Amino acid sequence: MKRIALGLALLLLYACSQDPQESTNNNVDATEQEQTDGWVHGAMATAANPHAVAAATEMLEKGGHAVDAAIAAHAVLGLVEPQSSGLGGGAFLLVYERETGDLDFYDGREVAAAGATVDMFMRDGQVMSFVEAWQSGKSVGVPGAVALYQYSHEQHGRLPWADLFAPAIRLATDGFEVSPRLAKYLPMMEERSRLAKNPDTAAYFYPGGKALQVGDLLKNPDYAETLSRIATEGISAFYTGEVAESIAASAQAEPNGGTLTAADMEAYTVSARPVICGAFRDLNICTTSPPSSGGAQIMIAALYDHLSADAAGPMDKISAFVDAQRLAYADRDHYFGDPDEIDIPLDDLLNPEYIRHRATERIAPAAVPTPGDPVMVLHGEPTANRWSPDTTEEAAGTTHLSIIDADGNAISMTATIEGFFGSQRWASGFLLNNEMTDFAREVPADGSRPANAVAPGRRPRSSMSPSMVFDANGDLMMVTGSPGGNSIPAYVAKTIVGVLDWGMSAQEAVDHPNIIARGENVRVEISVDPGQAIASDLKEKGYNVQERDGENSGLHIIVVGPDGLDGAADKRREGVVRTVQKGQ
Ligand code: DON
Repeated sequence: MKRIALGLALLLLYACSQDPQESTNNNVDATEQEQTDGWVHGAMATAANPHAVAAATEMLEKGGHAVDAAIAAHAVLGLVEPQSSGLGGGAFLLVYERETGDLDFYDGREVAAAGATVDMFMRDGQVMSFVEAWQSGKSVGVPGAVALYQYSHEQHGRLPWADLFAPAIRLATDGFEVSPRLAKYLPMMEERSRLAKNPDTAAYFYPGGKALQVGDLLKNPDYAETLSRIATEGISAFYTGEVAESIAASAQAEPNGGTLTAADMEAYTVSARPVICGAFRDLNICTTSPPSSGGAQIMIAALYDHLSADAAGPMDKISAFVDAQRLAYADRDHYFGDPDEIDIPLDDLLNPEYIRHRATERIAPAAVPTPGDPVMVLHGEPTANRWSPDTTEEAAGTTHLSIIDADGNAISMTATIEGFFGSQRWASGFLLNNEMTDFAREVPADGSRPANAVAPGRRPRSSMSPSMVFDANGDLMMVTGSPGGNSIPAYVAKTIVGVLDWGMSAQEAVDHPNIIARGENVRVEISVDPGQAIASDLKEKGYNVQERDGENSGLHIIVVGPDGLDGAADKRREGVVRTVQKGQ
């Protein structure tokens, strides 16, 4: 599996590489690297919580690989940022090995239980509301994060397995202070969800019937116990036995229980999938293939390149970015799903000739963008009608980590439990995901099916798009990714275009107003400068603009620049960036 992934990634990388002397890119200190044949920039970690970044840097200081740091950091995030991701959820991990140039994508996405059915979210011909589906046991998929830890550690890890869990076990045992973001969501969740009603989550998040407050010391002995067992016994302590049984029992619990069983848990496997790369000028954007939506990053950047070619100024570049998103989202929505189950014309969607053609299908600003037909354009065979229109509805609990280790190896990892606090169902010290609501829940009565329909054993489509950019020499120049549900492709694309075309630093690109153009509306974050000016310009150009007071991005990115590593954490969440100097 690994060799196949590497083969494809490398083929695409080298197909776009060119002689170092001809490179026009001056963002990377390639000469110094060539001279030393080593990594001179030190290590860096950025993630959504300071405790998680401290766990990552603890591993990096011990000489750990970026993968060791990612596992340690994510085990901490599952504790201190339980609303966003954890052991009960899934993740996508993109890993770069600097010495070999290898790139791997490990898919730890949740899988539908064997008992899942295409119409499990339908009742009397009507689709269940998102809120009902979200907190139902049907929404719980087999969690993949823990299997992903083991799989990636076997391939890349340097530190002993058990050491990776020490920071999280320490924090869970000794306690940690409840963060403002965690505290902020609890009253809202009390009103809108079952978090304060399900006995285990009520006892943990609302002790004595009162929501936890900022600064409260929170301990989680069950989490410490589960992690200690994983640390000493390996992942069989999670996928079989008591923990697996507690997950199945929680998913099956009434009201509105699901079908997930201990046998589903035992059957879980990580998938090593192809990394996909595509050119942006003389650079290469590499990202995760379906069921991830990484491909949308390549499409947005390539479409933007065509559409912005005649831009008269910065505002025209923004509308080109908007149009690129609208076209790419329409294709993503229509064609992406589980690649093991459906035939996705991915190569054709990413083909530069199709992209060139698609860029000419510029859609009127207020119109609903329709999907293109890459197979028709390239091979004369209509295929868009193979699938019915997408009905997937995605809501906002996910997190992103970017890490570069002291040898220049890197990870980009987006991890999720789907909605805030996942399904609000609890097992062995952690929340269970509601990832199955990432499927198209509505089933067309005419028997047609969207590409992202539910099926047993299937992985739902994901918007998560961990990505990396490489320069013309094939050297790493950027690691990026974000949470944010179906806005993820827009958030991440903003950092890629912002750094590579708008001349921004990592922090400037993260801070820039988010602009999300999916369907007939364009959302603009006006609470951040120059959001209001962008919104006014787009309105004048005829777009349906929705002004937003804030956006839920959680961009954690690292740019490899001439002066070393330039990292950024998204001020919209609670993240930090920390550097570790080589040899520390
Ligand atoms: O995999 C997905 O696309 C979604 N489950 C991600 C949800 C998300 O990012 C929520 N973020 N705040």
